Amino acid sequence: MSTQQDKIQELIEKRAEARLGGGEKAIEKQHARGKYTARERIAQLLDEGSFEELDMFVTHRCTNFGQDKKHFLGDGVVTGFGTIEGRLVYVFAQDFTVFGGSLSETMALKICKVMDLAMKMGAPIIGLNDSGGARIQEGINALAGYSEIFQRNILASGVIPQISAILGPCAGGAVYSPALTDFTIMAKGISYMFLTGPSVVKTVTGEDVTQEELGGASVHSTKSGVTHFAAENGEEALEIVRKLISYMPQNNLEETPLVTCDDPIDRLEDRLNEIIPDSAKQSYDMYEVIGAIVDNGEFLEVQRDYAKNIIVGFARMNGQSVGIVANQPKVLAGVLDSNASRKGARFVRFCDAFNIPLVTLVDVPGFLPGTGQEYNGVILHGAKLLYAYGEATVPKVTVTLRKSYGGSHIVMSCKQLRGDVNYAWPTAEIAVMGAEGAVGVLYAKEMKAAEDPAAVRKEKEEEYRNLFANPYQAAKYGYIDDVIEPRNTRFRVIRALQMLATKKQTNPAKKHGNIPL
Ligand code: HXC
Repeated sequence: MSTQQDKIQELIEKRAEARLGGGEKAIEKQHARGKYTARERIAQLLDEGSFEELDMFVTHRCTNFGQDKKHFLGDGVVTGFGTIEGRLVYVFAQDFTVFGGSLSETMALKICKVMDLAMKMGAPIIGLNDSGGARIQEGINALAGYSEIFQRNILASGVIPQISAILGPCAGGAVYSPALTDFTIMAKGISYMFLTGPSVVKTVTGEDVTQEELGGASVHSTKSGVTHFAAENGEEALEIVRKLISYMPQNNLEETPLVTCDDPIDRLEDRLNEIIPDSAKQSYDMYEVIGAIVDNGEFLEVQRDYAKNIIVGFARMNGQSVGIVANQPKVLAGVLDSNASRKGARFVRFCDAFNIPLVTLVDVPGFLPGTGQEYNGVILHGAKLLYAYGEATVPKVTVTLRKSYGGSHIVMSCKQLRGDVNYAWPTAEIAVMGAEGAVGVLYAKEMKAAEDPAAVRKEKEEEYRNLFANPYQAAKYGYIDDVIEPRNTRFRVIRALQMLATKKQTNPAKKHGNIPL
């Protein structure tokens, strides 16, 4: 008969076995691939000593292909809960040392259990992905497992923040769980995502492509926009997860906790009074403006290397988490195109879903013209950003720095899209279009008939600029609430956000809207 001590000893041994996942050799191989194990990653992600593991004794139930003889305690995923900066989060980390982290029926049950807990408790769920996809031996049961996870991702969307770090392979239909979550972080060199791998690509299209070229971090952060962050390595990826979480509330019914702000709210930034070049054709760097107005210049940029003509990301103003959306005059003159519109729209919707006020900095000459954009559906993509702003009920503060023309003026959080406080700098130009375009339309006949068309053009452009290339037309009608001195922008935006702190606005009851996808 075994004593209580024997039983405790048995527990200790089982725990030690579970903690080894697929065993020491598999761990060595994982390290040799330049990757950490699931448990090492969780330790890096969470506050020290805060992790509580669940389901470490779960094993798979498959008997096909000799699987009944191969069991690893915990199967291919480590799940549980812990804290980040003292705030509760749920986590699952696929364990590549066990059957390549491939998804079994029981693994899916473990992941679903923490997802359900996260929903019940209203706390973020973080997935660390490193998996060969569906566990081939389990057939349709593995697919059913994925489906259960996807369904939960969908129901959790907009209720709790969901973050995916890709720290190894993520291929086939498995990519759809990260794609359904709010933010995806990839690590350069070790992670890749694709629906079909290089060998299938070769068979179907004849293309020769490596895993990295097909779905590495640099591809998805620059070309496809699938990932929001490309970290230098796995550790940095987890550091980004921690930072992201700090800007978010626990769920859609809460607000992000205020952080003590040691940066004076009335800090004057004289350099902003000189930042707009004299020539409308010259650019300046919008990062300088963002850095000057947010707390301590700290800005966590989302999708930094994708559609660089728009900048989106998180910052704090007087300790309050805000979402910044800004045109970047340095790239394509800050024009809106399909990719920039989609990027902006998704970010605006995230902020709105999670009660994060929006600060929009406008310098936009219009939408990018041409067949490339039209064939690509810029009408629908632009409408996404329009829809996102118009639907958003969080506090919305907009500052127009320079150009704000035509449709792009409307899209970038104008007054009629329920912008709460809309300010402009004295350098703002708010009109239907720029002077050159307008004169070309209005005075085409006169210029054709004139002896000196250039002189007519010059005179008429001057007249147009005097009338429209300023913020006062818009201010006259109350579309702009005030014209502010650039160096005072931080203070004025913070005061507006303070005033808006108790904002309550709802949209008409509906099942859901039909955003132009
Ligand atoms: C079962 C798997 C597996 C899988 C890997 N392994 N993938 N076991 N099912 N899907 C096992 C390997 O047999 C090996 O076991 C161990 O994991 C480590 O794999 P290696 O191949 O040694 O590692 P590496 O060289 O790093 O290559 C990793 C890999 C490769 C690129 C992921 O394993 C691979 O191509 N796997 C198959 C990927 C795939 O086609 N999956 C199905 C996709 S379809 P041993 O015992 O030798 O250590 C899919 C549909 C999802 O997922 C649909 C959702 C809706």
